[in-house]
Formats: sequence, C-alpha cells, structure tokens
Amino acid sequence: MREKQIQQNYRPIIAVHKWFARRPGSLFRALLLSEFVGGDLETNYFRSHNLHGLKVADPFMGGGTPLLEANRLGCDILGYDINPMAYWIVRQEIQQLDLNEYQEAANALGQWLEKKIGFLYRTECIYCHNPEAYVKYFIWVKTQRCIECHREFDLFPGYLIAENRRHPKNVIICWNCGSLNEVIDKRRPGNCQVCGLALLLAGPANRNKCKCPHCGKINVYPNPQYKPPKHRLVVIEYHCPRCQSVHRGRFFKKPDDVDLARYRQAQSMWQDVEPIFVPDDLIPPGDETARLHRWGYYRYREMFNERQLLGLELICRAINQYKNTRVREALATNLSDLLRYQNMLCRYDTYALKSLDIFSVHGFPVGLVQCESNILGIKR
Ligand SMILES: C[S@@+](CC[C@H](N)C(=O)[O-])C[C@H]1O[C@@H](n2cnc3c(N)ncnc32)[C@H](O)[C@@H]1O
Ligand SMILES: [Zn+2]
Ligand SMILES: [Zn+2]
Ligand SMILES: [Zn+2]
Repeated sequence: MREKQIQQNYRPIIAVHKWFARRPGSLFRALLLSEFVGGDLETNYFRSHNLHGLKVADPFMGGGTPLLEANRLGCDILGYDINPMAYWIVRQEIQQLDLNEYQEAANALGQWLEKKIGFLYRTECIYCHNPEAYVKYFIWVKTQRCIECHREFDLFPGYLIAENRRHPKNVIICWNCGSLNEVIDKRRPGNCQVCGLALLLAGPANRNKCKCPHCGKINVYPNPQYKPPKHRLVVIEYHCPRCQSVHRGRFFKKPDDVDLARYRQAQSMWQDVEPIFVPDDLIPPGDETARLHRWGYYRYREMFNERQLLGLELICRAINQYKNTRVREALATNLSDLLRYQNMLCRYDTYALKSLDIFSVHGFPVGLVQCESNILGIKR
C-alpha cells in the first residue's frame, strides 16, 4: 500500500514511461522470494539475493513488473506482449544504457531546443519587469461561437484559478475584464481591482450548457461541428529568478500583448514547417475515444496546439539525428512519455498548482480549462 502511493519513488525505473495499472513491485518480489528462496519472507524480503541461473518468462508482460523484479533478483528474463508499446517500454527500461552518453545527448538536445524555441516560453515579470521570466504554464479556456449571435464566448466553468493552499491567496479571474485578483477569502471575493465589478466564482458553463454573455442564448457543448475546440489564453503561471527571493508564492499574470504575439509567432513558425514526424492519422472509434469525437477531435494532431506541435516536431528531428541507436531510442522513449504532458487535454490542478496529464483520469476527460506546460521545463 505504501509503494502504491508514490510508486516511482520505490521503483524509479517505471518512471521511464507511463504504463497503466502497474502492480506494486513489492508484491512480485514477495512472490519470487516465496517461490525460489523460501524461509521467512519478512526477513528475506530485505536481504540481497542472487537468483542467477533462474529464467523467468512472462508471455503477457504488460508493464513488466514481474520481469523487472525478477531481473533485480538476478534472474534471466524473457518477455512478450501483443501490444508493441508494452514491448517497447519494458525493453527500454531494462536494456543497458550508457548514462554519460545519454546525459550528454539529452543536454545537447535541450540546449539546441532552447535556442530554437526557448523565447516562446518567456514572459515579462509583472513585479520586476524582467522580460526573460520563464513560463511554467499557459492556461487556456475553451471558447465557442454562439448559435444565435455568432460571437465567440468563453466556456468558463468557474473563475477560481488557484486556491490558497500552495499559494498565499486565491487567484480569481475577473469574469468581466480578465484581470487576475488575489483574494484572501474566496467566499467573499469582493470587487475586481481593475474594473471594479463584483468578482464571481461560478462560471457560466455548467452541465454541457453555457449562456452566451452577448445575447443570453443558451448554447450546448460540446458541439463537434466546431472541430476541434478553440481555446483562448487567459492566465500564465511563470517563474522569475530575479524576484524569487522577495516574492511569496507563485507568479500569475494575465497574458499581455507580447505573450499573445509570441503565440501568433509560434503559429506562423509551425505553418512554415513541413512536418515529417507529426502524424495526420485519424483517431479510431473505440470505447475511450468516443468522447474525443464528441468534442470534435478527429485527428491526433488536433489534440495539440501549434506551439506544442512545433516543439514536438523539432524534438523528433533532433532525436532522429543521433547515430547511436541506444541513445536515440532512449530519447525517443522520453519524448513518447512527454506527450502526455504536451497536449491540450492536460488540465491545471487548482489545488496542487500543477499540470494533470492526459492520462491522470481514465477515458480522456476533456476539460474546459486546459494547461500547456513549458516544453523545456524550468531552469532554476
Ligand atoms: C494485465 S497485463 C499483464 C501484466 C503483467 N503480466 C503483470 O503481472 O504485471 C496483460 C497483458 O497481456 C497482453 N496480451 C493480451 N493478449 C495477448 C496475447 N495473445 N499475446 C501476448 N500478450 C497478450 C496485453 O497486451 C496486456 O499488456
Ligand atoms: Zn520578477
Ligand atoms: Zn450569443
Ligand atoms: Zn475586472
């Protein structure tokens, strides 16, 4: 039970790549020791063992937990799976890797990417005006065109962006002017410091219905006619190394004109790219993909915004250059796992103030507020 809480701390190797429903490694260690060592498990569990010469096979290996544990005990292992992802992931996790060579390649890739697109993840700090603050997250709200007056409106389910748990105050977007207000008591949010109107917590979008703020017409969402959904940038969470020592809590800002222009620049850069690696494949029908179709996502690439597609395509190209197959495959595995945090189905956790990846809940839930992470990570 303790392992399941923070599985990747107990079994760091599984953090190489996401796999669903991984069993605890401790369970298989216990089974292997009971089978091949015997004696008192409570004592043996914590001893080192060398089961060299034993061969363990798992013909349906999935995430490979039994094999990884057998391998730690010194067994030779053999695995199969009909799913090519399972095969790829377990093989990558278990194969030998020259860590120095890998680290060097990863650093070089990061530096190259920083030069190419790092500027797309910078923003001006609202406190010290440092123009080179690092964006952590871009927060986007879905928008829809009104069926009556044909004007665009936001599908805000609520205006609370951050709670006062990991940040000193609650952060509320003004429904009227979009300014960010930091308030102590979210039940009594008061008035917007910029436009003076009363702040609201509840948004207009609720249970698949949203009233158009321009004409009052009740619109229904999702509407796959508007394929795929559109988004509007509403908040940036960033990190300013210059004021970090004097600033309490996180840094939030309403996007300024430069931020909006940067995104347009990413869009035009993406338009100039002839994609080699970003696929054009349709999302096939299935139990878990029906929701995506209902939202008007018909191709995988539609689940990413232009800045994400640009970054992902560039990373693919860079990885493809590596002559050393082992390093190239290791980097490709990292990229594959990164995908779950680099798409427009990620959500922002208003409590923990972090991105929730596309697989954090089973079945591709499509949120109304989405979170785009800095593809380069944050340097501190
Ligand atoms: C529950 S997972 C296995 C988990 C793993 N053995 C463990 O104990 O942690 C079942 C796996 O069987 C694989 N599978 C299903 N049918 C298969 C077949 N005919 N041949 C090989 N693998 C198959 C699935 O792709 C899936 O990854
Ligand atoms: Zn600053
Ligand atoms: Zn309207
Ligand atoms: Zn306002």
